Amino acid sequence: MSKFHQKVVLVGDGAVGSAYAFSLMQQGLAEELVIVDVIKERTRGDALDLEDAQVFTAPKKVYSGDYSDAKDADLVVITAGAPQKPGETRLDLVDKNLKILSSIVKPVVDSGFDGIFLVAANPVDILTYATWKFSGFPKNRVIGSGTSLDTSRLRVALGKKLNLDPRSIDGYILGEHGDTEFAAYDEATVGAKPLRQVAEEHGITDAELAEIEDQTMHKAYEIINTKGATYYGVATCLMRITKAIFRDENAILPVGAALDGEYGLDDIFIGTPGIINATGLAGVIEVPLSETEKAKMKASAETLKKVTQEGLA
Ligand code: NAI
Ligand code: LAC
Repeated sequence: MSKFHQKVVLVGDGAVGSAYAFSLMQQGLAEELVIVDVIKERTRGDALDLEDAQVFTAPKKVYSGDYSDAKDADLVVITAGAPQKPGETRLDLVDKNLKILSSIVKPVVDSGFDGIFLVAANPVDILTYATWKFSGFPKNRVIGSGTSLDTSRLRVALGKKLNLDPRSIDGYILGEHGDTEFAAYDEATVGAKPLRQVAEEHGITDAELAEIEDQTMHKAYEIINTKGATYYGVATCLMRITKAIFRDENAILPVGAALDGEYGLDDIFIGTPGIINATGLAGVIEVPLSETEKAKMKASAETLKKVTQEGLA
């Protein structure tokens, strides 16, 4: 990776992909952006539209391309895949989106790509695992958006409740990016104070904290039922992870990371804090879970492993 010229190949130019592309432009991240999609016309139009934004942001080569353009890319971001319809769970997408993923990863690897994969298409933990399997890449160079969006949602909800900047809340959603996720409340802090203590001082009950966790878990369905899809939140999470890679930050971020014994789990990609830098995932931060939370993490992992095995069978 050249510090002075960083290249992203975005695969999937739909709602999430185009929002991510716009976010990269706004943040001045990457000097070259290639947009790939089966709908070529869309990528050509988006490239022409996006390039006009560089005058007031930063110079960027942005163009419609294909998998061969990944040969000298630093990062391939995969947002290609069907989104949930109202009433559908993320896991319901597994068969159709694994098929799409398999048509993407092989030509990217065949191009000679040796950078980092960042996966967002759902069910993201399973598709991140499959990207690792299909690519044969080392685990640290395959990262999922994991529970980054869920963690953002939790912090937004707690910030509203506590009248605090959500960036000041150090709490995580862990596990599946999906219906088995959970809030690690027992370890969360606000201004170096345990969250549960701060909540009590604000007269917020455990039941209200549980309600916030439930709202967080179901926020995607609320957005999908109102506007049809969610994309700005996840696009910003993807941008943030991209920034940590391109700035070699060693930032601790919620991501979908490969576990190798952490939480007593392995052979899985799941939502946890990870250290992100130019090498990709530089390490996993294993949150010291309470017994109740350990059981939730185990149950979430079991759900993911079951659907992964069925999907990849
Ligand atoms: P969309 O339907 O707007 O865009 C998907 C794009 O993928 C389309 O442009 C389509 O042409 C393209 N595509 C389909 N098959 C392809 C292939 N074989 N090669 C290249 N491109 C292909 O969907 P949207 O809303 O952008 O969502 C994309 C994915 O992201 C979905 O799976 C959705 O569930 C997921 N998602 C994940 C989130 C997360 O937090 N991880 C949050 C929001 C969405
Ligand atoms: C979300 C879904 C779409 O959390 O994954 O927004």
